[in-house]
This record gives sequence, C-alpha cells and structure tokens, in this order.
Amino acid sequence: MKKTLLICMVTAALVCAFALPSLYAVDAPGDMVLKAPAGAKMTKGPVSFSHKGHAALDCVKCHHKWDGKGEIKSCASEGCHVDTSKEGKKEPTSFYSAFHAKSEVSCVGCHKAMTKAKAKTGPTKCGDCHPKK
Ligand code: HEC
Ligand code: HEC
Ligand code: HEC
Repeated sequence: MKKTLLICMVTAALVCAFALPSLYAVDAPGDMVLKAPAGAKMTKGPVSFSHKGHAALDCVKCHHKWDGKGEIKSCASEGCHVDTSKEGKKEPTSFYSAFHAKSEVSCVGCHKAMTKAKAKTGPTKCGDCHPKK
C-alpha cells in the first residue's frame, strides 16, 4: 500500500516536471544572439543566449511584462528598455539595465543573486558573456 502511494507521488511529480514547460501556448525560440537596437553603437561583443539553458525558469521571470498569452515583445520595445544614451545608463528604462540591473529580472542581477545563494547559475563577469570583439 505504502509503495503504491509512493509510486503515485513519483508519477505525479514527473508529470508536473514535464508538463511545466508547456504551461504556456507560446514556444521559446532556440539559441539566439542578442544585439543592441538598430542605430545604437555597440561597445561590447554581442551576447549569446540560450532558452534551453534556462528551461528550468518560468518565462515570466524574464518576460516580466508578458500576460502569458499574447505576443512576447523584445526587451527594447517602445516604452520598455529603449534608452541607449550614456547618461541614461543607470535608469531602469535603459537598454543596459535590462541585462545588468541589480534586479533579479536582469541576466547579471539574477546570476549574481544565485551565485550569492550558492546555487548553480550563469556567468557574472563581462568577458564571460561578451566575447572579445
Ligand atoms: C550574464 C551576461 C552578461 C554579463 C556578465 C555582462 N553583460 Fe553586458 N550585456 C549583456 C546582454 C545580454 C546585453 C544586450 C545584448 C548585447 O548588447 O549583446 C548587454 C549589453 C551591454 C552593453 C550595451 C551594448 C554595447 O555593446 O555597448 C554594454 C555597454 C555592456 N553590456 C557592458 C557590460 C560590462 C562592462 C559588463 C561587466 C561589468 C557586462 N556588460 C557584463 C549581458 C551581459
Ligand atoms: C532567462 C531569461 C528568459 C527566460 C526564462 C525566457 N526567455 Fe524568452 N527571451 C529572453 C530574451 C533575453 C529574449 C530576447 C529579447 C529581445 O530580443 O530583446 C527572449 C526572446 C523570446 C522570444 C522572441 C521575442 C522577440 O524578441 O521577438 C520569445 C517568443 C520567447 N522569448 C519566448 C519565451 C518563452 C515561451 C519562455 C518560457 C518557456 C521564455 N521565453 C523564457 C529571455 C528569457
Ligand atoms: C532569473 C534568473 C536568470 C536570468 C534572468 C538569466 N539567467 Fe542565465 N542562468 C540562470 C541559471 C539558473 C543558469 C544555470 C542553468 C543550468 O545550468 O542549470 C543560467 C545559465 C546561464 C549561462 C550558462 C549556460 C548556458 O545557457 O549557456 C549563460 C551563458 C547565461 N545564463 C546567460 C544569460 C543571459 C545572457 C541572460 C539575460 C539575457 C540570462 N542568462 C538571464 C539564471 C538566469
């Protein structure tokens, strides 16, 4: 009896684990190279990003303005992280902030917080994300 219960629980856990990625009807694209918006001068090498490498995370951890149904907009969409000026770099509306702000929504912010918590995570050093030009 106890064993049956255990098997049921394990099965339920497995179903959950595999059902989770299909929580949303939208698919994540494959590996991509993230670039600064057209017109902005890039000072660093373009960064590679893999959705597969982040499959354990809920989409809205990063796509924090997404309603879970509609179109997923790029970070540099109108009204979001559009400012590529040097002066605005520290502002939340800057393109830079989207990827480096202290907030756990940003690449560096999340990796740093997880590193601090001693969890397995991604790179935090400039050169580990930005390849040499
Ligand atoms: C976890 C990955 C990651 C790390 C670490 C990282 N960046 Fe970035 N950075 C990005 C992403 C993603 C973008 C936006 C896409 C792009 O520009 O390729 C970006 C964009 C930038 C930009 C604006 C675009 C440009 O090329 O001018 C600058 C400046 C920049 N990063 C500087 C830095 C510096 C300096 C460091 C180290 C203090 C750093 N980054 C660390 C991921 C990272
Ligand atoms: C670790 C952060 C992260 C997670 C988690 C994540 N994404 Fe993304 N996704 C990104 C980044 C960064 C981009 C590139 C955005 C840009 O071009 O400005 C992107 C782009 C996309 C795009 C293309 C949007 C465009 O720019 O045209 C789609 C669609 C997408 N993601 C779907 C998903 C789905 C569905 C999930 C959950 C299964 C997911 N993403 C999880 C970071 C993430
Ligand atoms: C909410 C947290 C979170 C955010 C935001 C996030 N990451 Fe990560 N990242 C992780 C975790 C967790 C791992 C480790 C996954 C694993 O290996 O199990 C990781 C791994 C990585 C790795 C190494 C493995 C791989 O996929 O190549 C790179 C590179 C990376 N992240 C880049 C990025 C970039 C670029 C962004 C922003 C566009 C980003 N990450 C945003 C949590 C995050």
